[in-house]
Amino acid sequence: GHTGTGRAHGKAILFGEHAVVYGAPALAIPVPRLPVTATATRLPSAGEGADQISFAIAGPGTGSATPVEADDLRHLVAEFKVRAGVTERVCVDVLIDCAIPRGCGLGSSAACARAAVLALGDLFGRRLDARTVFDLVQVSETAAHGRASGIDAIATGATAPLYFRAGLARELPVAMAGEGFPDAARAGAAHPWEFDGLFVIADSGASGSTKEAVEMLRGAFERDPRTKETFVREVAGLTHAALRDLGEGRVDDLGARLTENHRLLRDIGISTERIDTLVETAIAAGGRGAKISGGGLGGCMVALADDPRRAETIAGRLHEAGAVRTWVVPVGRFASYA
Ligand code: MEV
Repeated sequence: GHTGTGRAHGKAILFGEHAVVYGAPALAIPVPRLPVTATATRLPSAGEGADQISFAIAGPGTGSATPVEADDLRHLVAEFKVRAGVTERVCVDVLIDCAIPRGCGLGSSAACARAAVLALGDLFGRRLDARTVFDLVQVSETAAHGRASGIDAIATGATAPLYFRAGLARELPVAMAGEGFPDAARAGAAHPWEFDGLFVIADSGASGSTKEAVEMLRGAFERDPRTKETFVREVAGLTHAALRDLGEGRVDDLGARLTENHRLLRDIGISTERIDTLVETAIAAGGRGAKISGGGLGGCMVALADDPRRAETIAGRLHEAGAVRTWVVPVGRFASYA
């Protein structure tokens, strides 16, 4: 065909960001109400020469379509050609419509790359398996972040909460409820478990660079390996405990662990004053726990609420405290958990 399309969506990390880069497990949820669609269009190509690829992105904060971190995505096209066995000269225009605010820790870079990979696959009639898609997204994530664990590459295509550690990604048997989860009602109806918690995600309005945060920690950990070991061990413990809390419906315990994970991230310098204020605000408003989410140094935070009205109250207070956008994501039902 003449055009190809690909889709992905946002994600929020609940536990384990940064520690996951050093092998700790992490938990993330997909945020399908922040969709990304890429459209790849073949351009008329005259004769021989280098590939001609242009990327543009449209979405909140970008005004009209603006050129993206084109270099990160360009690596991806070269690797796509190798993996997909495309030998001809490629002349394409890729337009990405990204509803995820950028620099916010919600996975915009990985989601744009994932949507672009799928659009290229569609345009060239290649059926890319999950591993190939992951590898290709990682090419651009590694270029964008220097060192990428792969959690964003998976979570931006996941349909259920995700347990992730290096070399292992497992979607949890949870049917998420609400917008963007068409199968939730059906899957949930068949199983007894129900987790009543809802996550409130808030954008602090100050963007943070994941690359800078990852590099800062790498430097600090090289100088002080003991701090790294302690941080990674403590976060891993929280993630494992949180997994059990989720499966057994313990909202209060899960919340306390969120706040504990926030403290660990704050102590190693990943949080900001603005985010700390939002975390305190969410807890004062009745949140069961709260933490920074994603790359940090700004960006987003996430709070846990035990019912929808409380979630709305928390969202309102977060706006009063300076959050520029909030989203409520219900977790839904656990199909089963072992
Ligand atoms: C970014 O969403 C998550 C980090 O842990 C980086 C990574 O895992 O690649 C900060």
